[in-house]
Amino acid sequence: MSSDDRVDRRMAVLSSLESVMLLGYADLPWKGAGSFEREKIFLTSLSDGLGLEREVITDNLVDRMETLRNYDGGVTYPHSINVAMITAGFGSYLNEQGISHYDIGNLFTGGLQHDIGKLYIPQGILSKSGKLDVEEREIMANHTAYGGLILRADSGVPVPVVEMAENHHPGDGENIIAYHNRISDATRLLSLVDQYVAGREERSYKDSWPEWKCEKMLGESVSKGTIDPTILSFLPSYRKEKGMPVLHASYS
Ligand SMILES: [Fe+2]
Ligand SMILES: [Fe+2]
Repeated sequence: MSSDDRVDRRMAVLSSLESVMLLGYADLPWKGAGSFEREKIFLTSLSDGLGLEREVITDNLVDRMETLRNYDGGVTYPHSINVAMITAGFGSYLNEQGISHYDIGNLFTGGLQHDIGKLYIPQGILSKSGKLDVEEREIMANHTAYGGLILRADSGVPVPVVEMAENHHPGDGENIIAYHNRISDATRLLSLVDQYVAGREERSYKDSWPEWKCEKMLGESVSKGTIDPTILSFLPSYRKEKGMPVLHASYS
């Protein structure tokens, strides 16, 4: 496939994501009979748009995403789609620039499942409108370990994808620079995108931040030594050239 074809395919999937947004996410037939097939078509069309092999979308992955959508379709599910699309899209762009060799299938499926452990977090904590208290934060922090348990139970999940779920947040009290030194390049990229996307998304306790505010937040992380300045320096040109729509969704 030529690089022009790859760009066209990525633009197609990004515009399909924008169409999902325009259609109104809440109106799509996400729930009820036949939703498994709907889910598979949706996830396959996203991966097709990124030029990924069809095998990237497995039945087990679709099952897990459908379960996540039914459990927390208002926040964690669209967040996971956003992280998957932007991590895979941005990673692919960085590969094209010749500065990295990411496996885009792992970035996409790792993004989809990085927060899968939230299936074990009580819904009252996931949907709380105010700040979490200390105990709730401790419970929430377990979603990385739970994610590892869920994904390790499926022998078809590549180890780098498990690693993204387990390590996308620093450990409790862990030195932030030591954290960034021990994680994989793929997890480091995903964790950058995770922060960016969380800023862009609307939450019950915050509005969607503008692009400049998200980039400022990441720039501050560069000064703390926690984000690779080279990777971050490509983010504005990637956004300008390819667009980075963020799916907003909420329904109950
Ligand atoms: Fe997370
Ligand atoms: Fe996340």
